[in-house]
Amino acid sequence: MGMWKKNKDIKVVIQYADVLKNETNKALLRNILSKEKLFKFTGGANYSSYEIYHDWRKSQVLYKKDFIDFVPHLEKFIKKHFNEICQCLKIEPFKIHDIDYQLTSHNDGELFKLHKDKSTPATEERMITFVYYFNSPVKKFSGGELLFPEGGDLLIKPVNNTIVFFNPTHTHEVLKVSCPSKKFKDGRFTINGWILKESILKNKPAKGKK
Ligand SMILES: [Fe+2]
Repeated sequence: MGMWKKNKDIKVVIQYADVLKNETNKALLRNILSKEKLFKFTGGANYSSYEIYHDWRKSQVLYKKDFIDFVPHLEKFIKKHFNEICQCLKIEPFKIHDIDYQLTSHNDGELFKLHKDKSTPATEERMITFVYYFNSPVKKFSGGELLFPEGGDLLIKPVNNTIVFFNPTHTHEVLKVSCPSKKFKDGRFTINGWILKESILKNKPAKGKK
């Protein structure tokens, strides 16, 4: 079955609390609430049926350029803890080629069913997945936990200003969010992404090299 059962010393996830300064965490929420109109519904480019896709994944995303001011804060945290994260997840430390970021909103009824973040040549560079959680000061939604079925149904609760790291080859899902007000500001927000290693398939130059 899953690799956790064969290698009990491998932790499924590593989590940290109090990731950003309180004022940065609050400023992030304020900032992205002013950008609600820039969010795009996750599309079904790989699926012929839009309805089937939306039954499997439903959320809205904002791309890096629209929250760029907050990226250095997270990047500093990720790089500071990189060795510890690799050690905990039993991932051989590697030279970081780049870090991919996107910002995701899950509101009432939204979810992302079972999937892996690394399963195709296009996602081959992804070495570590991270999910940073943030929400309104008084949490107005329930659900939205991250579930790892092969990790003994491990559930990670979305707690404001925490971050979780895991191996992108592990199957996981975002359970359905319940947000009775249906207001954008009351939803489950994450900055999520991947720490990338240089692709051995694409053979493209590393950042800063010509
Ligand atoms: Fe994922």
